Amino acid sequence: MITTTVKASKEYRVFTGSGLLATSGEIMREVAPNALKLLIVSESTVAPLYLDKVKTSAVANGFEVYEYIFEAGEASKNINTIAGMWGVMAKAGFTRTDLVAALGGGVTGDMSGFAAATFLRGIDVVQIPTSLLAMVDASVGGKTGIDLPEGKNQVGAFWQPSAVIEDTDCLLTLPDEVFSEGMAEVIKYAFIMDIPLYNILKENEKNGIGIKNDAWLMEKIVGMCVADKADVIMSDEFDNGRRQTLNYGHTVGHVIERNSNFTKPHGVCVAKGMGIIIDACVTEGSLSSDEAVKMKELIKAYGLPVEDEITAEEAVSGAMNDKKKRGNTLSVILVNRIGESEIRKMSPEEFHTFLRGALA
Ligand SMILES: NC(=O)c1ccc[n+]([C@@H]2O[C@H](COP(=O)([O-])OP(=O)(O)OC[C@H]3O[C@@H](n4cnc5c(N)ncnc54)[C@H](O)[C@@H]3O)[C@@H](O)[C@H]2O)c1
Ligand SMILES: [Zn+2]
Repeated sequence: MITTTVKASKEYRVFTGSGLLATSGEIMREVAPNALKLLIVSESTVAPLYLDKVKTSAVANGFEVYEYIFEAGEASKNINTIAGMWGVMAKAGFTRTDLVAALGGGVTGDMSGFAAATFLRGIDVVQIPTSLLAMVDASVGGKTGIDLPEGKNQVGAFWQPSAVIEDTDCLLTLPDEVFSEGMAEVIKYAFIMDIPLYNILKENEKNGIGIKNDAWLMEKIVGMCVADKADVIMSDEFDNGRRQTLNYGHTVGHVIERNSNFTKPHGVCVAKGMGIIIDACVTEGSLSSDEAVKMKELIKAYGLPVEDEITAEEAVSGAMNDKKKRGNTLSVILVNRIGESEIRKMSPEEFHTFLRGALA
């Protein structure tokens, strides 16, 4: 097991390793010594696989357990589902010392975190991520929220968990495409800040997504990503500076995702977004073509695409509508060498010129 400590507005530990669901109750008891009640939030795909394990461990550690199970998928990430969680807690008489546990992917984590952040003006939450994306990204860092018909993640709160329990055995039941999607974020950490992680991914390139069956390797890879994310958060919890580097591949990726009406999965769009930025950097001369070939080969090896038919025009206008832009400039994340990133402010015109190096 790997333990990573995050020191943000709250200090907490992230436990990463095989078999951790069976001891989740002990960890929850340790971080919430006075809690009587526990609400386990999960969804229709994950609950049948893992809820019993967590519940058994929670009961053995003295929690009175309540459940809230919603229909799996991004379409559930709305206020009605949150209201369902609030309702269960209100009816059961939850107090400020009680606890919420999020058992599932990023959708479950974001919503449970938001319900916990808002119920009684904030009760503690423990994240128990089951998807690769949630383990390496969504469960760590305290961003919580829901979607509106007008856009994704439009309402939310920064609400750090009390602990994150990552049982890497859960990765074994993930569908291949969903595992690949998580790999897009793993590769992102390697490119923006982590040469040792890049080397591991490169060494195992020929196995591709087969790496998910290697428990030792997955613990190591997930643990490295968590350490990277923790490092970024500790220097910029509220996303005003360095945390923006985590948006590598996302500026264009989000536009592709939105233009497809969310039919193209997030990780696939991030991979495409990275591929496009890599090409644009080569054209402007800030990245060598040798380095670019290695980067794109790595993305493809883990089952992800590096190209899209989006035009520079569409990418710029889409990016200008993104909630993450500040004023009339965009913060574009570039990688000039594997392991090193740059945040470059660009006007829409500059971004257009830059993208013309990769897109029509
Ligand atoms: N808070 C953050 O910092 C942050 C960061 C990145 C993404 N997100 C959010 O996370 C969400 C995406 O996360 P996701 O990809 O985990 O989505 P998800 O929660 O929808 O999970 C993806 C799919 O995998 C299934 N699944 C999850 N774990 C499984 C397992 N162990 N075995 C079998 N199936 C399993 C789910 O049922 C779902 O169908 C988005 O809503 C995104 O906005 C948040
Ligand atoms: Zn992402």
